[in-house]
Amino acid sequence: MSAPKSIKHVLASARTGEEATIRGWIYRTRSSGAIVFAVVRDSSGIIQVTAKKGNLPDADLGAAKSAAIESSVIVTGKIFEDKRAPSGYEMRASSFQVIGAASPFPITEYQSEELLLDNRHLWIRSREQTAVMKVKASIMDGARQWLKQNDFVEVTPPILTQNACEGGVTLFKLKYFDREAFLSQSAQMYLEALIFSLDRVYSLTPSFRAEKSRTTRHLTEYWHLELEEAWVDNSGNMEIQEGLVSAMVENALRERREELTLLGRDPDDLKEVRPPFTRRSYSDVIGELKAKGHDVEFGCDLGAVEERAVTADEKVPMFVTNFPKEIKAFYMKEDEVDPRTVKCADLLAPEGYGEIIGGSERETDVNKLIERLNNLNIPIEAYEWYLDLRRFGSVPHSGFGLGIERVVRWVCKLEHIRDAIPFPRTVARVYP
Ligand code: 4AD
Ligand code: MG
Repeated sequence: MSAPKSIKHVLASARTGEEATIRGWIYRTRSSGAIVFAVVRDSSGIIQVTAKKGNLPDADLGAAKSAAIESSVIVTGKIFEDKRAPSGYEMRASSFQVIGAASPFPITEYQSEELLLDNRHLWIRSREQTAVMKVKASIMDGARQWLKQNDFVEVTPPILTQNACEGGVTLFKLKYFDREAFLSQSAQMYLEALIFSLDRVYSLTPSFRAEKSRTTRHLTEYWHLELEEAWVDNSGNMEIQEGLVSAMVENALRERREELTLLGRDPDDLKEVRPPFTRRSYSDVIGELKAKGHDVEFGCDLGAVEERAVTADEKVPMFVTNFPKEIKAFYMKEDEVDPRTVKCADLLAPEGYGEIIGGSERETDVNKLIERLNNLNIPIEAYEWYLDLRRFGSVPHSGFGLGIERVVRWVCKLEHIRDAIPFPRTVARVYP
């Protein structure tokens, strides 16, 4: 037996008559008489294997015949060109070993969404899921490379906290010995503390939102990439977002064209995702929506419907800036020019996918922060440490949070955000 190689490697170096060994799982199988046609997959691809009486020991042929879908196998054989085979080549087995026999697989073609979610631990083996996970890895890797090149230091904020960063409504509360604590909604406040030692920081952590609404873009646990930058204003913050998002998409395009195509995303759709992105004010967007007949006015938040209406025909992401103060978080900096609004920007993905980033310049005036917390009836005690950041050498600063699964959903053209994460948590599901 030759040393096992990945299927991709074997296909790439396939020369008629060459022997190779592969390891993987049976993806499809059928037998007719003395011949078995099995398609074997590994993490890199699929290849058709034919096991024919006379070419391999009878015991191996028997094993190949009785091996069910998802059995794990090691196969050795010669590679031949075969135009009818899925990858253009087939392996003619001289040895076929079943390593882990599979019980009848609970997932067959055309299953209900619920059954697939109940069997998520098995469904993640599918080619689509595998492709999404690879694209996601390239998106995160693209981010990390860009962050490193741009002098950001990765930090490790806590998940257990006593601070609501994004309001009380979506907090997961838990008993922390004899006190109450929450699962983090955002690392932002901790990142703000860390810029005083490190200038430019980021973290990639899970964030938790007790979202009761069932939508195609909300998870209760998602991966949150957050940046915080000293000496940067709202406009500099948007430039950082453009650079970062473009690098994430570019890395996915560089590394995962095949996977994107398999998912139904034409990689060329994403070629225009380069700085600068479109910039529009909230007021301007409200004006457009009104003209299109939407029932909105200054002060309304933009929901999925409104975001879709504004971006459905766009090719590049769009910043929407200067939201009304009342509908945004307490820490956002008031705009001097239009004090009804704050110096913030949401970044909306094109094609109607909606918000992927929320960011802002931060309020540095401790009295304004206290006033806003008071107006929201938030007890100050838990925020004293955060207010200290304004009392000890405060600097202008900005930051933002990007939902990784939101970006993956857009880049992979997924209908539902749950397919952007292997084990989705939603209001209806925390199993498996
Ligand atoms: O807009 P959000 O709530 O902003 C913050 O949390 C800031 N504190 C971030 C910061 O400035 N450091 O959330 C940021 C992003 C959203 O734009 C969205 O992409 C994602 O997090 N997000 C979710 N993704 C999936 N499921 C949910 N329930 C999400 N809620 C927010
Ligand atoms: Mg937001």
